[in-house]
Amino acid sequence: MGLVSSTPLLQEARKNGYGIVAFNVHTLEMMQAVVEAAEECRSPLILQTTVGTVKHLGIEYIAANARVAAEKASVPIALHLDHCQDFDLIVQCMRAGYTSVMIDASMHPFEENVQRTKKVVEIARALNVNVEAELGKVGGVEDDIVVEEEHALLADPAECQEFIERTGVPTLAPAIGTAHGIYKGEPNIDFARLEEIARRVEVPLVLHGGSGIPAEQVKRCVSLGMAKMNVATELKNAFSESIKQFFLQNPSELDPRKYMAPAKEAVKQLAKEKMELCGCIGRA
Ligand code: 13P
Repeated sequence: MGLVSSTPLLQEARKNGYGIVAFNVHTLEMMQAVVEAAEECRSPLILQTTVGTVKHLGIEYIAANARVAAEKASVPIALHLDHCQDFDLIVQCMRAGYTSVMIDASMHPFEENVQRTKKVVEIARALNVNVEAELGKVGGVEDDIVVEEEHALLADPAECQEFIERTGVPTLAPAIGTAHGIYKGEPNIDFARLEEIARRVEVPLVLHGGSGIPAEQVKRCVSLGMAKMNVATELKNAFSESIKQFFLQNPSELDPRKYMAPAKEAVKQLAKEKMELCGCIGRA
């Protein structure tokens, strides 16, 4: 099939009340693991990479691997650039084959966020690429973007409406109280705010900070319009913990395939659990 834009996939998800999981991957094995999980679950899939991973692996390597995955797979797969503040890098990723990009201008005042997002939306539209923007500020740590708890800001529903009207952005990540990374306690999600945002805007909404949100809260978010859930930290941890365990038991092993195989399996199992939670199984 080839990589597809995530816009129609997410519109379909919002319309039918389920969520598609976007997994942050950092290695070929992590990418293969979530693709296998999607195939086995008959689920649409969004592969995503942060700017840090783009720098680590290279845009062309990531795009080529994702393209091969999408061509071989029998489920629709999109490739998304997560949290990018750099316009030039966004354009480079679109050129290289990314089918979705996030312009994160949430650290700027509302008006500047509108202008920066609009500029990306215009180019992306011509290339049939999805765009995601953020309103409010999601707390926590994502690569080198650090938002302290006291600086996290929830999205304003009226601003969400105005933002969609003025930018035409096809997907929106409103901050509603989740955070990147693992929660110390439970997340403090403002469901009433989410309900109000979903009432005002029809575009698919994106739930950031998907790691460690209790199952019932994820389901509630999805039922209220969160059509995409980002999962990064839990996936990374499952992969690395598996490798750590492997070396505790096999300290003299030197063949990467020996420790990559169980690490890949751990990622795949976790991916399936997240797909089940978001209700996207059988939706491909
Ligand atoms: P977590 O690291 O909490 O899963 O957040 C992922 C995310 O929202 C990436 O944008």
